[in-house]
Amino acid sequence: MCRVYELCRTLSFLLLLYRMPHTHSLHRIRIWDLPTRGFHVLLALSVVGLIATGETGAMQLHFWLGYGVLTLVLFRLVWGFVGGHWSRFINFVPTPAQLRAYVQAVRSEQAPHSIGHNPLGALSVLGMLSLLLLQVFSGFISDDEIANTGPWAALVPANWVEIATEYHSDIGKVLLILLIILHVGTVLYYKRIKHDDLITPMVTGDKVFTTEVHASRDTRTSRLFALGVLAGCVYVVYRLVSIN
Ligand code: HEM
Ligand code: HEM
Repeated sequence: MCRVYELCRTLSFLLLLYRMPHTHSLHRIRIWDLPTRGFHVLLALSVVGLIATGETGAMQLHFWLGYGVLTLVLFRLVWGFVGGHWSRFINFVPTPAQLRAYVQAVRSEQAPHSIGHNPLGALSVLGMLSLLLLQVFSGFISDDEIANTGPWAALVPANWVEIATEYHSDIGKVLLILLIILHVGTVLYYKRIKHDDLITPMVTGDKVFTTEVHASRDTRTSRLFALGVLAGCVYVVYRLVSIN
């Protein structure tokens, strides 16, 4: 009995030794810090809420959610300079040459796995943030000529209000919905077809690599700092809304 036990112990130790090199070569690295992940989930929920309230006419809530989205986008713009390593624009916005090289690599099916956003994903992030800003500021000068007027509508010429309202209700809304469909579709395509799960890291923050890569800072201090930045953005939006 004792011999069988010893044998089992030796075998399990040998098994462990055999596994060690593999276990050791895997590194779980923080890529998306908590503020970036929080930004993403709040943004997605708010934008869905904005489309729903815009379509159903729950305008009081629509306005509040709109101010919320402006706060979040401002926060993300600032976080793009002072946030965790992989959330910084400098570490994911590609130069035209990098973009061309990546597109060529995609065409020849040799695109490398990116650590943070890949160059095409980076463009869609910038596109999404720009479209959201346009949607918010066109909302600021929109007027449905019934009961709902954006806070800046009285400050600009009437033809601006007309153009902005048309953009907000007919063009911007459609562009945004198309980009969101493309965004979610691409993420699902990566998961299902390319077996590259981008969703789990956007939830947990971590990706697993076979070599050490630079980690994003995500400490208690950096999170408190993010709250400070967010508070600053709330104040800026409050001042912008109260301009009239
Ligand atoms: C209204 C809905 C949504 C909006 C406006 C939106 C917007 C964004 C933005 C702005 C980013 C860039 C994050 C950053 O660097 O700060 C992003 C990334 C990402 N989003 Fe969304 N998102 C939406 C819905 C979703 C949904 C439903 C999923 C999951 C299926 C998703 C999965 C992801 C993933 C995985 C990334 C990271 C992509 C990468 O690794 O390059 N998003 N999203
Ligand atoms: C990302 C942010 C926003 C999104 C996605 C959004 C979306 C929408 C949608 C889907 C509608 C309904 C359009 C239709 O009638 O078919 C709408 C209407 C409207 N929104 Fe927004 N909105 C946003 C931000 C804002 C903001 C910040 C304001 C004002 C501060 C605003 C003010 C209005 C007004 C006044 C209307 C009525 C326009 C009309 O029916 O002629 N929106 N919005």
